[in-house]
Amino acid sequence: MAKPILITGASSGIGYELAKVCAAHRHDLVLIARREEPLLALKDELQTAHGVQVLTYRGDLTEANTRQQFYDWTQFKGIAPYALVNNAGFGSLTPFAEADWANQNAMLQLNIVALTHLTRLYLPAMIAQGQGRILNVASTAAFLPGPYMAVYYASKAYVLSFTDAIATELEDTGVTATTLCPGPTQSEFQDRADMQDVKFFEGKKLPTSAEVAAYGYGVMEKGQRIAVHGTVNKLLSLGTRLLPRKKMADLTKDLQKPA
Ligand SMILES: NC(=O)c1ccc[n+]([C@@H]2O[C@H](COP(=O)([O-])OP(=O)(O)OC[C@H]3O[C@@H](n4cnc5c(N)ncnc54)[C@H](OP(=O)(O)O)[C@@H]3O)[C@@H](O)[C@H]2O)c1
Repeated sequence: MAKPILITGASSGIGYELAKVCAAHRHDLVLIARREEPLLALKDELQTAHGVQVLTYRGDLTEANTRQQFYDWTQFKGIAPYALVNNAGFGSLTPFAEADWANQNAMLQLNIVALTHLTRLYLPAMIAQGQGRILNVASTAAFLPGPYMAVYYASKAYVLSFTDAIATELEDTGVTATTLCPGPTQSEFQDRADMQDVKFFEGKKLPTSAEVAAYGYGVMEKGQRIAVHGTVNKLLSLGTRLLPRKKMADLTKDLQKPA
């Protein structure tokens, strides 16, 4: 495969669009998600449009066995990824004390453990090759506490801290680690998180997943450490350094109080 890129959560939203951008830049692809149909349709589309090779893998990344089997499968196929894009993730809007534990646990497994595990599996070969890219998708949620989405915001704070730390460990190896922080973006995320009625989105035209993906590919290629999408989001993330954390938590609580 030519400079292959592995993308998790490529069946919709930002991951789906990242696959398109990477294929347009002539990367072969390995795509993983639980829904096979959209992955297979995307595979056909990208192979026809760009002449790249696309492999798909159906799997639930909350499960450690699936992650190991996926890694073993890529090893068996002799795939040495140029880049790993840890994009799969989800949130849930609910007061924490009422949250379904299985759902919160799955969120921790996907947003934190799968991202960390896959990075650990693929990083050594990248270092040995002296080149590679890790793109970890966090969120502007990484910069502040998020009442009613407490676990989601905390999971994204983890992604930012973890990725920033390994970016420093990787200096001078030829491998870079980038944290992509999108703000609210058009995708299946809001519906899955039960966020249809929150004030946060009222009257707002959200950026498309395609816009975020194009930006994400660019910052990954540049090896930028932290990349916040959009000018307003950049200003807001800088603002979080100045405001007391209690104030930020109160503001977020007001914006995303469940209806
Ligand atoms: N949209 C936003 O407003 C926004 C803002 C900031 C950050 N983000 C982050 O951006 C990333 C992509 O989200 P999105 O907005 O593109 O949402 P999305 O359209 O819901 O896409 C999520 C992707 O993750 C996959 N996924 C979910 N659970 C999985 C599992 N257990 N195993 C494997 N794959 C799984 C989904 O595929 P299957 O269901 O087929 O498995 C889907 O391809 C997430 O990390 C999210 O936190 C989103």
